[in-house]
Amino acid sequence: MPDIASLRKTLEKHGQSHLLRFWDELDEPGRAVLTEQIAAIDFDQLDQWIAQYVRKRPLARPSGDIQPPAVVPAKPTDPAVLAEHQAASQRGEELLRAGKVAAFVVAGGQGTRLGYEGPKGCLEATPVAHKPLFRVFAEQVLAASRRTGAAIPWYIMTSQANDVATRAFFRQNRYFGLKPEDVFFLVQGTMPAIGLDGKLLLAEKGSLALSPDGHGGCLAAMKKSGALADMAARGIELISYFQVDNPLVRCLDPLFLGLHSLRGSEMSAKALPKRDPMERLGNFCLIDGKVIVIEYSDMPDDLARATTADGRLRFSSGSIAIHILSRSFVERLTAGRGAALPFHRADKVVPCVDESGKLLRSDKPNAVKLEMFVFDAMPLAGRTVILQTQRNEEFSPIKNATGEDSLPSSLHDQIRRSAAWLERAGVTVPRDADGQVAAAIEISPLFADSAEALAAKVDPKKVITGGQNLYLGE
Ligand code: UD1
Repeated sequence: MPDIASLRKTLEKHGQSHLLRFWDELDEPGRAVLTEQIAAIDFDQLDQWIAQYVRKRPLARPSGDIQPPAVVPAKPTDPAVLAEHQAASQRGEELLRAGKVAAFVVAGGQGTRLGYEGPKGCLEATPVAHKPLFRVFAEQVLAASRRTGAAIPWYIMTSQANDVATRAFFRQNRYFGLKPEDVFFLVQGTMPAIGLDGKLLLAEKGSLALSPDGHGGCLAAMKKSGALADMAARGIELISYFQVDNPLVRCLDPLFLGLHSLRGSEMSAKALPKRDPMERLGNFCLIDGKVIVIEYSDMPDDLARATTADGRLRFSSGSIAIHILSRSFVERLTAGRGAALPFHRADKVVPCVDESGKLLRSDKPNAVKLEMFVFDAMPLAGRTVILQTQRNEEFSPIKNATGEDSLPSSLHDQIRRSAAWLERAGVTVPRDADGQVAAAIEISPLFADSAEALAAKVDPKKVITGGQNLYLGE
């Protein structure tokens, strides 16, 4: 731990002396906390960030010739692409069987939009069994592990705010049947909130205002926590990355894993045709031969709304934040200092103590928060693959309290997918006059984790009555 004299000198040099303004009022443990927080900051680096992101406002519109990228179709009709899909599914299954794949979820977010207290993964999110999101994913990992006979480790990125609660939740639920030694928690890093004048803010007299460094922080966190080394020791080659908010995600999709591998990709992504030009999804674009994702909030309006000659959206591929990353790629990106991803600036209201030590809450944004986004690693990859997928099969996130992308809309979509799988297996599903499914249906991944697996297992004569609550479990 550095001594106070050298801390003072560093802070003075970088114009941040105010951070020790209340030093004399702090007790020993309080001083230790503040010292640790300050010592964790690389102030030369911070000065650069302040110059780059706070004093200047980074241009949202990327320069260069922006084109739509090539996308592998979800349901190919071309025989060559179809053959590649088949070979990829087989390769993916082999990779799983050989124990070369890990699941990775980013679960460090604060669920502000949803208004849910606690880690979002604890939210009860299924229509019949009311399983928490973490159980939904755990059962998929367990199902894949049982099917392939391989250990599949699961890495869970938390943040300082929810790490303790997340670990406790797993313990209370006995790791949802997974082996505790195959579940690895890692805490993402933090970034200090920076006042609009370039001064760091104090949340309390003895504590900086800190916030998570964005899901892009997962790269550095993988290295710092030892997760990357753990993966290497286990012989993991591919990292199957997903977000905590989407119960329809296929955490370990053999087709996607196999395509990534067959095409020698370093980072791959799943895409969806956007619902409308303004849907809040990142936009896949190609600039100078590199795939980049332009976040919905940064996408220039004219590009978001641009159409092709036949009236379709030109930039139609939205990112659903499902990726495969090669472990070697993450190792390469994290070999130097930091994770080499750019930051995104968000101006926020951050409560902070003023010069007299009083806690203030500004009525307009008073601070800059800097976050890294994992998709910014795409242009750094040697090769990439974008695989289109079907919304009703793989995407219905829970982000808002009501309306689109909410718990009610996701429950509805989960039932709809289960019904479609059953109908494909020859089962008659009750529907009302509008064609809506007239029962609550949930299929555990431990019963069947795909339409094909269900068809192989369910009796087509199975009777489902209107209004029934049907749970197909182990
Ligand atoms: C995100 C993507 C968007 C994509 C959409 C698909 C960003 C900036 N945007 O939007 O391109 O189309 O999902 O659903 O990601 N998280 C952390 N640590 C953090 C911040 C977030 O682990 O510091 C995790 C959250 O727990 C969550 C995920 O990242 O699992 C997404 O975060 P969120 O902020 O909700 O992103 P969206 O705006 O929904």
